Amino acid sequence: MKIAVVTGASSGMGRDFARQLACIGGFDELWAIARREERLLELKEELPVPVRPVVLDLTERESIERYAAMLEEEKPEVGYLVNAAGFGYFKAFDKAPLEGYYDMIALNDSAVVGMTYRTLPYMSEGAKIYNICSVAAFQPLPYINIYGATKAFALSFTRALNVEVKQRGIRAIAVCPYWTKTEFFDTAKTDDTITYYQCFTESKDVVAKAIRDMNKGKDVSILGGTAKLNAFLTKLLPHKFVMRVWCAQQKKPY
Ligand SMILES: NC(=O)c1ccc[n+]([C@@H]2O[C@H](COP(=O)([O-])OP(=O)(O)OC[C@H]3O[C@@H](n4cnc5c(N)ncnc54)[C@H](OP(=O)(O)O)[C@@H]3O)[C@@H](O)[C@H]2O)c1
Repeated sequence: MKIAVVTGASSGMGRDFARQLACIGGFDELWAIARREERLLELKEELPVPVRPVVLDLTERESIERYAAMLEEEKPEVGYLVNAAGFGYFKAFDKAPLEGYYDMIALNDSAVVGMTYRTLPYMSEGAKIYNICSVAAFQPLPYINIYGATKAFALSFTRALNVEVKQRGIRAIAVCPYWTKTEFFDTAKTDDTITYYQCFTESKDVVAKAIRDMNKGKDVSILGGTAKLNAFLTKLLPHKFVMRVWCAQQKKPY
């Protein structure tokens, strides 16, 4: 059996990946992973391919091992792995709960490493790994600090991984969205710490671009001129200056 695996499939970019991969096809079943079972059941009804809802809290290591046990039992060939589950906080560092930071690091980084590690033995030539990072990965980000740091890890991990797995004909791409219209903001935004948003993109467009970029052989996917300029300037300019501009935009002290 050939499968596609998508984490964060209950909303936002994970759900759009599930939808667009289902249209591309080439696999027998899509394993849709998230905590909200009702959303995964809705997706199962919606998609034109068989969907297996897999309810897991990926902040827990035990969940990754439950997924590994499913792979061990079914021995599928995994054609796609999309690591889209993730969350962030818009807060001063010491104003968000420490437990929340531990969960953020567990979900945005440890789970991406764990899911990839456990999936790779079931991948062969032509398999594709999409890790949703962020433009936040390119610079230190006061007031979204830990989130940005988790995404910097994910970006670095994905690009280096792509080099390693290329020998086996497998590809990995870091998808780096700008502000994107999803439920991400329901968790992240609880006050007016971050108020300045530029140019929201559509989740489905981020996903379509990522699929195109993967097919072109890129290892990083960035949608839109503003996001590309942002990524370019953060490489070029001193990060102290970049952080100063960011803080000024958000009306925060530097
Ligand atoms: N939206 C943006 O502006 C933006 C920009 C750059 C990068 N990103 C990144 O894009 C990725 C997708 O986010 P999104 O914008 O699509 O947000 P979203 O709509 O909130 O989706 C987040 C997904 O993660 C899942 N999730 C959250 N906690 C989980 C847990 N403990 N275990 C398993 N699954 C969990 C959620 O499902 P359940 O709640 O059902 O578990 C949901 O499906 C994230 O990695 C995010 O950091 C977002």
